[in-house]
Amino acid sequence: MAVRDIRLFGDPVLRTVAAPVTTFDKELRRLVRDLAETMADAGGVGLAAPQVGVSLRVFTYLDDDDEVGHLVNPVLGPFSEELQDGEEGCLSLPGLSFELRRSERVVAVGQNVYGDPVTVEGSGLLARCLQHETDHLDGVLFVDRLDKETKKAAMKAIREAEWANEPKPVVRTSPHPLFGRAR
Ligand code: NI
Repeated sequence: MAVRDIRLFGDPVLRTVAAPVTTFDKELRRLVRDLAETMADAGGVGLAAPQVGVSLRVFTYLDDDDEVGHLVNPVLGPFSEELQDGEEGCLSLPGLSFELRRSERVVAVGQNVYGDPVTVEGSGLLARCLQHETDHLDGVLFVDRLDKETKKAAMKAIREAEWANEPKPVVRTSPHPLFGRAR
């Protein structure tokens, strides 16, 4: 297992629509283990593969019992009409959090690391996490969903963030085993 570097806002991999997983092999299991370890190391409640530079539809999350779960190829729905208000943050925008309204409950259907069908029903924080992480797989960040005024404040905070001026990683192409989706 390994703790991988977490990609920060501004990295193009965070804006790329991730590819579906089609091969459920050792490489995928290693990716899920690394996501879990990286998430724990960073003290996060969710981490999507693009955040470690792998453009595949996979994420890990902490469930209501603080156990690590994972979902491969997740599809969300139905969403509850009831909404929740709360602060949301992201390991790719360290130190920043903003009020964001989300659905109170959501069902996520996907697969586990062996390709078996899995259904996760989330409410509250878990529902927020499932929505946030699935967004990552579509190249969407939570700041995209903020209301206009909050988004303005968020963009200012991002510009002023210490990490915002760090050099962006160079995109390398190499014959990586993860189906060429690692960047
Ligand atoms: Ni995030």
